[in-house]
Order: sequence, then C-alpha cells, then structure tokens
Amino acid sequence: MIQAPKGTFDVLPADAERRALVERTARRVLGAAGYQRIETPTFESTELFSRGVGEATDIVQKEMYTFDDGGGRSLTLRPEGTAPVCRAYIEHGMHRLPQPVKLWYLSTFFRAEAPQRGRYRQFWQVGAEAIGSAGPDSDAELIVLLAELLEALGVKGTRLRIASLGTPATRAEYRVELTGYLRARADALSPEARSRIELNPMRAFDATDPGTREVMREAPKLIDRLAPDDAEHFAAVRELLDGAGLRYELDPTLVRGLDYYTRTLYEFTSDALGAQSGVGGGGRYDGLIEQLGGPPTPGSGWAAGVERILLSGSEQPIAPDPVDLFVALPRLDSGSARAAFELAREARRAGLSAQLELAGRSLKGQLKHADRIGARYVAIVNEIGDSTLKEMASGEQHELALVAVIPAILRGDRL
Ligand code: HAM
Repeated sequence: MIQAPKGTFDVLPADAERRALVERTARRVLGAAGYQRIETPTFESTELFSRGVGEATDIVQKEMYTFDDGGGRSLTLRPEGTAPVCRAYIEHGMHRLPQPVKLWYLSTFFRAEAPQRGRYRQFWQVGAEAIGSAGPDSDAELIVLLAELLEALGVKGTRLRIASLGTPATRAEYRVELTGYLRARADALSPEARSRIELNPMRAFDATDPGTREVMREAPKLIDRLAPDDAEHFAAVRELLDGAGLRYELDPTLVRGLDYYTRTLYEFTSDALGAQSGVGGGGRYDGLIEQLGGPPTPGSGWAAGVERILLSGSEQPIAPDPVDLFVALPRLDSGSARAAFELAREARRAGLSAQLELAGRSLKGQLKHADRIGARYVAIVNEIGDSTLKEMASGEQHELALVAVIPAILRGDRL
C-alpha cells in the first residue's frame, strides 16, 4: 500500500469547500485594500532562501527540501513566500510601479519538521506583502488586515503580540550584549540554549525549562536598546493600532524564525490550537530586497497558516453548491442518452448547474440520488424530444417538451 508521505495530507472534497472559502475571503479582504494576487514557483534557487531567510535559521539549517536538478543547480521547495515575492519584485522591475506594490498569495510551502497537529511538511499559507513603503501606516494596515481576515474566517481565541527589532545595526550591538550576558550565565542554561548562544542567542527567550527562563527574566531586552527613530516608528504603529481599536500585547521577547525582520514584528496565536499556536505573523523586512541584489527597498508583510486557520475556525459546515438540474434516464438507449447528454450541456451553457446520470442506476435510484445531491429539478428524458420535469421540493411533475425544460427552470416555474 502506497500512502501519502509523512507530514502531508490529501484535501478531500469536503475539506476543499472550506479552503475555497478561505481563498474567497482573502480575495475579498485583501482585494478591498488594493492587494493583488501573485504566485511564484514551487521551487527556487537554494541561495534565495539561504541568503533571504538566513543561514543560521532552523528553516535553512534543517528544514529545507533541497535537491540537485540534475544540471548541477541546487533547488529548494519553498519553505516560505517572502523571499520569493521579493525575488519576483526585483526580477520584474516592480520598483518602477507606483509604490508600495501590494501583493497577496495563497500557496503551498514545504518544511521538513516533525509532524504534529497543525504542523505539516507540506502546508498552505495565505500571505500579504507591501513592498516599497517604509511608513508605520503600512505595518498597521497589514496587521489590521490580518486581524480582519482571521475574524472573517471565524478564528477563535486570538491574541496579538507585537514587538520591534530595530535596525540590523542595533540588533548586532544588542546581540553582542546578549551573548555576553548568556555566556556569563551559561551554567544555568539548558544544554540547548547553551549550544545556541553563539548562533542564535535570541532563541533563549523561547525556552521552556525553568533554569533558562530564570536567566532570561533579567536579560537585556532589545526593545530598550532601539535607536530613537526606530522607537518612534514603533510608537506610531501602536498608535494606529490603538486608533483602530485592535487589542495587542507588547512582547519584548517575541522572536520569529526568520532573519530578515527589521523594526515591526508580530504574531497572532489562537487558544483553539495546541502546541502549534501560531496562526499567522509577520513583520517589516527593510533590508531583504537589497540583500537579494535589488535596489534598497523597504517591505512589510505577513503569512497565516491555512490549516491552522481551519483548525481554530468555526466548524460550521459549508452548504454544497446548489444543483439546479439532474438529468435522469429511465432506459439506457443511445437516443435518449444523447438527448440527456445534450440537455445537461445546454443547461450549463445557460448558466445552470446540471448533472447527468453516469452510474446506470434504476430510475428509482436516480431520483434518490438527485434528492441526495439536493437537485432542485429532475428532468426524466423519456424519449427524444420528450421529458418529465419534476420539482423536487414539491414533488410536482409535468410532461414537457425537452426544449421547454431549460426555459422553465430559468423562469423558476412552480410545477
Ligand atoms: P512563519 O511564521 O514561518 O512566517 O509562517 C507563517 C505561518 O505559517 C505560521 O504562523 C503558521 O500558521 C504557518 N506554518 C508555518 N510552518 C508550518 C507548518 N510546518 N505546518 C503548518 N503551518 C505552518 C513566514 O513564513 C513569513 N514568510 C511571514 C511573512 C510574510 N513575514 C513577512 N512577510
């Protein structure tokens, strides 16, 4: 038995409806704010992620699906969408367009993580990026849009945490300070935190063991080291969020697993999720485009996990699409089969949804099936040119010429 690879899943028709709703809602919420859809390739040059996401991150160190394409080029299944969107921005000269360029995507991503509820090796994200604007207003707008999207999709128990990372220079100085602080207290840290002091000291803020947490309580915080213009930028973001009535918590220890962030950083979590509580998050990445070889260009954005949205959202079943017409065949002869085939096709051309009997059921079985799929009308094709049209809700039926069936349904005739 061949099964789907570990950490992957099939989207079956029942799930597809709820996912389609996520897509429609994203299009509505983001489209209303002027964001346009973009899709980038499923795989990219490995270098895009090692340079963009950062060599020291978990994603690049151990979670990427990387392969040789046979021609000596190293390719990687995209683990995230921001670096690819920035690559596309540079490649298509989007800096010549009116700025900011506001883009959104709904795509699959790949990370070789240990699978658990809400964490998969292939997953979907809906994401938004505003490239070319440095202002706090684009950060605040993005955060508000993510909040609106989560609310519109019925995501329950959300909590928003925000922080600011300042500039890479501030971060570098702070890093030296934090590394020194941790080195001096290495004995009190967990082996994991100790092993990360040099490579990723910020991760110690994420630790769950009591020893490390105790040390981190007194640790210097980046937010207290911000340069005045970064602190001002952050205050402006908060003011706009306050004005929008959005509730958030300041979390000076917020860390996210991607290296490109500068200034604003945020994450939405949901109580409805277990250990993998992050529904969506993002931040500003003012150095990324330049780092990827483009002109100095600020950017800001977020992504939310579609599976986590669905896990923490309302369970309301989505009504299946209506079926206007089911075309039934009492006898299988080639003449009526052809007439039925054409009637279904004509009905669809007229804008109705129409299904054809395709399983060779008895007439009784066909009517039962039509009822099961919620058909409004059943046309029983008796012989060429002649039919019985049945309205399922009332059970009423009439003899009708085949040519009169579609007009009768379009008029919504009561039979
Ligand atoms: P991220 O936090 O790595 O950010 O991922 C965003 C969201 O994707 C997470 O909050 C989570 O809901 C979902 N997610 C991540 N990994 C998995 C997984 N293994 N299984 C299921 N869901 C997952 C980014 O990817 C950034 N590109 C966001 C961003 C956009 N920053 C700026 N612009």
